[in-house]
Amino acid sequence: MTTIDDATYAQYVHEDLAHLIHPQYYAPDHQAPVIFDHGEGVWLTDVKGKRYIDALSSLWNVAVGHGRGELADAAAEQIRKVAFTNNYVGFSNVPAIQLATKTVSLAYDNMAALFFTNSGSESNEGAFKTARFYWNLQGRPTKTKLIARERAYHGGTLATMSMTGLPVFWKYFGPLVDGIVHTKKPDNLECDCEPNTDGECAHWLEAAILREGPDTVAAFIAEPVKGAGGVWTPAPGYFERIREICDKYEVLFIADEVITGFGRTGYMFALERWNVQPDILSIAKAITSGYIPMGAFIVSHQIADALNNVPSDARFMHAYTNSAHPTASAVGLRNLRIIEEERLVENAAAMGERLGDGFQQALGKSAHVTNLRHLGLIAGLTLVKDARTGEAYAPADGIGGKVAKHMREEGGVITRFVGDNLVFAPPLVVNAFEIDHIVEATAKAISVVTGA
Ligand SMILES: Cc1ncc(COP(=O)(O)O)c(C=O)c1O
Repeated sequence: MTTIDDATYAQYVHEDLAHLIHPQYYAPDHQAPVIFDHGEGVWLTDVKGKRYIDALSSLWNVAVGHGRGELADAAAEQIRKVAFTNNYVGFSNVPAIQLATKTVSLAYDNMAALFFTNSGSESNEGAFKTARFYWNLQGRPTKTKLIARERAYHGGTLATMSMTGLPVFWKYFGPLVDGIVHTKKPDNLECDCEPNTDGECAHWLEAAILREGPDTVAAFIAEPVKGAGGVWTPAPGYFERIREICDKYEVLFIADEVITGFGRTGYMFALERWNVQPDILSIAKAITSGYIPMGAFIVSHQIADALNNVPSDARFMHAYTNSAHPTASAVGLRNLRIIEEERLVENAAAMGERLGDGFQQALGKSAHVTNLRHLGLIAGLTLVKDARTGEAYAPADGIGGKVAKHMREEGGVITRFVGDNLVFAPPLVVNAFEIDHIVEATAKAISVVTGA
């Protein structure tokens, strides 16, 4: 194990501040960063030798845990053979063919074919472009808009930033892309739907489609569980209704399973729980467990058939140099084998229940916690000043950040906060002891920071 002295650490911090613009960059965040050195399973160790449980699978992606030698071997083997080949017009490679076939076989029954990307953002951007392309092929060129949801996170490109329903991501980057709109609570809504944990219901989508005009709407995009927006779970019946509404108004349903895909919710893909199938499925993250960047969007038979039977002037001119990258594909294939052989989807379901029950027992009666929620191995909770009245902390209190800091520094657990919400998504390989450690460190931090 390599640990470094204070002078070397200070030098790294200096160079980091000088030369590295981080995602969501704000220089004060980087004055005393945790600089990671290595990892094993759910554990990460920093350059000073301190160990942490990675309770968010780093960025919701390291499904099979850290330090997997099999994935290093898969990458090395493919790089020695040939690291990269052209996959454009008339060329292909074996790992990409095999990974496409495997991934489609694991996805919903109505799925037929996929396009490989390098990230979740590219998956969603491509899914949207494909929806527009499809409607043009159907002779319906007015169907161009995309409807997304409040609190959704769909990525960092200009279009996916515009899909994202979190205004904090828009500031100073506007104007947003035209034709991308969001659901919002309709005036005078009277319905008996049980709301999702963030208050939304399926009628919000119907109202948005009617507001925009069904003939102008190409697609609706939704995460089965809103992740980066704070982990908000759907009510029973929500996605069944979403499917009906999309069918009624001929709107394609894009499921953004960049976080939920490959077992996170205790099902290989999250909508299986409700027997719902999307028209386009966006994936990334766990397809390679983050060992190498990769994503994809998968399309239904209906869309694949349309793409396979285009007129000669309608080539699908969507492309990335690294699409169907042989090395990334080899890692993805080996990674999916681990998920299946180690029965990680089943483990996610079991450990998710333990995490949910653990939080309920430790925090269910807390004076400072509300809205405990989880679906499989993705969970969230809301910190409040007074759980009886629901009174929130003032933003200036920075309560989420304080609790997360205590968890990291004192409890050795790394996770993320979104405003006053703490979110959790440990690697799918997590065991009972590690789940209990996460629960204990969370409860302790909340108790110390809130003084309860
Ligand atoms: C649901 C969802 N969609 C899309 C993205 C964007 O993926 P990427 O950061 O790989 O571009 C993310 C990233 O966290 C995500 O959580």
